[in-house]
Amino acid sequence: MNSKGQVDRKPIKILGISGSLRAQSANSRLLSAFERLLPPHAKYETYDKLANLPHFNPDLEDSGLPVHEEVKQWRAHLAWADAIVICTPEYARGVPGSLKNALDWVVSSGEFVDKPTAAIGASPHPQGGSAALDSLIGTLGMMSAVIPEGAGLCIPFITKKFAADGTLNDAETEDRLRKLAAALAEAAG
Ligand SMILES: Cc1cc2nc3c(=O)[nH]c(=O)nc-3n(C[C@H](O)[C@H](O)[C@H](O)COP(=O)(O)O)c2cc1C
Repeated sequence: MNSKGQVDRKPIKILGISGSLRAQSANSRLLSAFERLLPPHAKYETYDKLANLPHFNPDLEDSGLPVHEEVKQWRAHLAWADAIVICTPEYARGVPGSLKNALDWVVSSGEFVDKPTAAIGASPHPQGGSAALDSLIGTLGMMSAVIPEGAGLCIPFITKKFAADGTLNDAETEDRLRKLAAALAEAAG
């Protein structure tokens, strides 16, 4: 119990990954909104170097050469986190190549195994990027990540949900994100 009469919670570490490389990405903005909705015992960081990773090639893993520095950093970020949230656009009915490439680099190294992971698909289209979200959830499941109940979200018409300054101004989306943040924090603790 702390001085405000609240129960002290063990600090938790949450890593956010946007599947978009765009500077003005709606998915990255959603992650900023998600960060603000996390409980106070959560420490939040982002990994935003997807574009720096080399193309995945299993031969590189089997070569006996030292692991590429960017791959090492990517794996270290994932290992640091108690829980992960991925928010991705849909490109051509699938996950953006740079995100899929990053995930391919950690299939064998196992950083997602038993890791609570939330998956969000957001798109301007009415289906909300559901094909990319389904594909992402399939990949995470294959890597033995744990997707807590209520931690898979599909958000349609995403571009209409921000104010001119880029902050989220849609109450329903905020509510869904708040519930997801609570579910992920609970699973991480
Ligand atoms: C090459 C390309 C393909 C796209 N394909 C799809 C698609 O299959 N389904 C969909 O819902 N949106 C599709 N979109 C629209 C993206 O979802 C949209 O641009 C989204 O806002 C990008 O996310 P961001 O703002 O986080 O970068 C596509 C966009 C591009 C540029």
